[in-house]
Amino acid sequence: MDKKVVIITGTSSGIGLETAILLAERGFRVYATMRDLSRRDKLDSEVARRNVHLNLLQLDVTERRSICSAVETVIAESGGIYALVNNAGLYLRGYFEDIAEEEARQVFETNVFGTMEVTRAVLPHMRRARKGRILTVTSVAGRSGALTASVYCSSKFALEGFCESLTQEVTPWGIHVSIIEPAILKSDRWATDHCSARKALSAKSAYYTWYGEAKKLMDMVARSSPTSSLDVAKAIYRALNARRPRLRYMVGSRAKLMFALRRYVPGSLIERAYFNESIRRVTRSSDP
Ligand SMILES: NC(=O)c1ccc[n+]([C@@H]2O[C@H](COP(=O)([O-])OP(=O)(O)OC[C@H]3O[C@@H](n4cnc5c(N)ncnc54)[C@H](OP(=O)(O)O)[C@@H]3O)[C@@H](O)[C@H]2O)c1
Repeated sequence: MDKKVVIITGTSSGIGLETAILLAERGFRVYATMRDLSRRDKLDSEVARRNVHLNLLQLDVTERRSICSAVETVIAESGGIYALVNNAGLYLRGYFEDIAEEEARQVFETNVFGTMEVTRAVLPHMRRARKGRILTVTSVAGRSGALTASVYCSSKFALEGFCESLTQEVTPWGIHVSIIEPAILKSDRWATDHCSARKALSAKSAYYTWYGEAKKLMDMVARSSPTSSLDVAKAIYRALNARRPRLRYMVGSRAKLMFALRRYVPGSLIERAYFNESIRRVTRSSDP
């Protein structure tokens, strides 16, 4: 039987890498893509260690030529695309006043327009085949705002709206859209780099002290997170395999509990309890 073809963006690390390996292990024909092939070492060593085969292509989600060339290669080699996993994304932290316009635009170019452009490139092939799956990794940050994450959260909120709308347009063609919403994970990127806006790290920032506290708080949440990249990869596998995939797959027990609570507790109470607690923890040692 022919293997189902899956394209995944952003597979040089984290969730994308883990998903590429897991799907290859579980019988998909995987096209793992990354914007910079010189960053392939980690993926190559996992491929060797776990003894799987996958195809690697260059794809920068912010460059249309690179998207078209990768999609054309997949079609020429495999004849079709069963699924796209929109995983590539940029994180950015900092109080909004410390985020420069070009930093915010770069996040939107990657997370929002990049995802839209890769989706645009695969849709005609799926439509002609009258089947396909489009999975987009958003975040719990696409469902709730968070302190020092205004730009990142708004990019993920935008993706939620995109996917909720797209699903209504493409379901009649047999194309399923799913949103994967991971909670905060322990990730290498997080541990080595807080993805901070340049000005957020300057002692001249009016928010400098609070940002330092916010980083400690986020580190604590990430370090104690019970959720891993593998959990997300497994959710992606479930969405790809389900006969009737759901629109949303939230990954992470804490996040699921929090959003279950939101169904029963009035929004204003959650805002008071959760948002005010973050503000209190970050500002308690210094007044403005
Ligand atoms: N980690 C978390 O706590 C968490 C939680 C919820 C959701 N998510 C989402 O999960 C996805 C994967 O994140 P991760 O945690 O695995 O982080 P990660 O390890 O930083 O992976 C992000 C991937 O996206 C790639 N990328 C960035 N810009 C790109 C571009 N223009 N074109 C193509 N690829 C690009 C990166 O490539 P380079 O190596 O070249 O930079 C990297 O491969 C993201 O969408 C993120 O927002 C993460």
